[in-house]
Amino acid sequence: MPSEPVPSPALPQGSPADEVLARLAGLRAQDAPTRGGRTFAYVYDSGLSGVDELAASAYTEFATVNGLDMTVFPSVARLENDLVAAAVALLGTPGAQGTFTSGGTESILLAVKTARDHARAVRGVTSPQLVLPSTAHAAFHKAAAYLGLETVVVPVDRDTLRADPAATAAAITDRTALVVASAPSYAHGVVDPVAEIAAAAAGRGALCHVDACIGGWLLPYLRRAGRHVPDFDLSVPGVTSLSVDLHKYGYADKGASVVLYRDAALRRHQYFAHAGWPGYPVVNPTAQGTKSAGLLAQAWAVQRHIGEEGYRALAERTAAAADRLLPGLRAVEGVRVLGDPQAGLVAFTLAGADGAPDLSLLLHLADEMRERGWYLQPQLSFDGLPPNLHLTLTPAAAGLVDALLTDLDAALKAARALEPVAVDPAIAEFAAGLDPDTLGPEEVEAVLAFAGMGGGTALPRRMAPVLALLDMLPVPLKERLLTEFVGAVFRV
Ligand SMILES: Cc1ncc(COP(=O)(O)O)c(C=O)c1O
Repeated sequence: MPSEPVPSPALPQGSPADEVLARLAGLRAQDAPTRGGRTFAYVYDSGLSGVDELAASAYTEFATVNGLDMTVFPSVARLENDLVAAAVALLGTPGAQGTFTSGGTESILLAVKTARDHARAVRGVTSPQLVLPSTAHAAFHKAAAYLGLETVVVPVDRDTLRADPAATAAAITDRTALVVASAPSYAHGVVDPVAEIAAAAAGRGALCHVDACIGGWLLPYLRRAGRHVPDFDLSVPGVTSLSVDLHKYGYADKGASVVLYRDAALRRHQYFAHAGWPGYPVVNPTAQGTKSAGLLAQAWAVQRHIGEEGYRALAERTAAAADRLLPGLRAVEGVRVLGDPQAGLVAFTLAGADGAPDLSLLLHLADEMRERGWYLQPQLSFDGLPPNLHLTLTPAAAGLVDALLTDLDAALKAARALEPVAVDPAIAEFAAGLDPDTLGPEEVEAVLAFAGMGGGTALPRRMAPVLALLDMLPVPLKERLLTEFVGAVFRV
């Protein structure tokens, strides 16, 4: 009998644990620092010693527990009920119920699914709409795309950058399943007029979701620290659901959020049950099936460790960082802070000599700050709203604001001395003529290569030329090119 060919190995031979860990540490060294307060996006640093170690130990303790079945692993229900009860106490009303999820995006997906299924079951809506301010997080667009809702985007007020309640009310129809408000919006850190929006939704029989993913664990503690915080939670009449991420200002490791509903009858629409197959009966409250209880346990441990007074003190430190940063920023020539930031997030734009936002200067500034060890997040222009740099302040940054402002001053001088970023008009013309729906691989390659993003190699050190090009492209083309770029990064 001919022998079977021996398959070539899929993996190298196994290595000792310390070697494996050393390789991981080497990879990690290339990343932006997640602790120390100089990375002003993506990471939330309480600045408290021991929190990371506690989270890691709690994760390890529960890493192998499967959150899929709470009848086999009852600890899962205990931990989740504790986390949801805390969120209800902070942001809910009696009778509110919720679910622990993997993050803001999943909480939002579930709230949109709940609204869609509720609208169909209770009001017979078969082609549902999602009404949202233009500043609502992209996750709502993702949810609408995944779940088959039509989005109705309402421009925000140009000065305050808050949702416009009258325009929102006018956008609500008999098909509206859900109306969205942010507390605050990620882009500008301003809190939408939740009460007016929720009242408009309720008046038409629609549900209203408050996206407090980023602000939900900060705003209530800012209020406890004596700051003015507008009403935004489930206690506002008409608000029917709310999302709050524990992996943001709750300081848990990534993979921790809670979605709340006004009652269990509404939450029921979130669940998925399936008994029509020969395997085990399935009831999934969330999008995931099997999930490690490690994330739940670490979030629970961090919350119990920091506690009520701890969160109040941390909120005060974040607010103190903003109090120090805002006047310093406003004193810088050309800087305009956008809106009235109320919750640890600050976005500012830079005007050129003509008073208009100077995209090139702004992008050079971001690059210059990166050279000096600070990551400020560039946000591009959108629908008449100016490009800006975004900072997520955390307690770890409280002692660094003066150093930040000093470096900002130097970085701005350096940025002003640089040649403005100019997108080659030929490339701009070529790119503007592209149809995102019919782009071929060569055209994609040409644009990405120009932007220094070709071949899936590391990003260029200076991002200004790439972002300047992206800024000028129409949204669908931007989305297509970004998709191709990320596809190129994740190419094996
Ligand atoms: C207001 C808001 N909503 C939703 C999200 C999405 O959350 P995640 O990245 O955890 O999925 C974010 C993330 O920053 C946010 O700030």
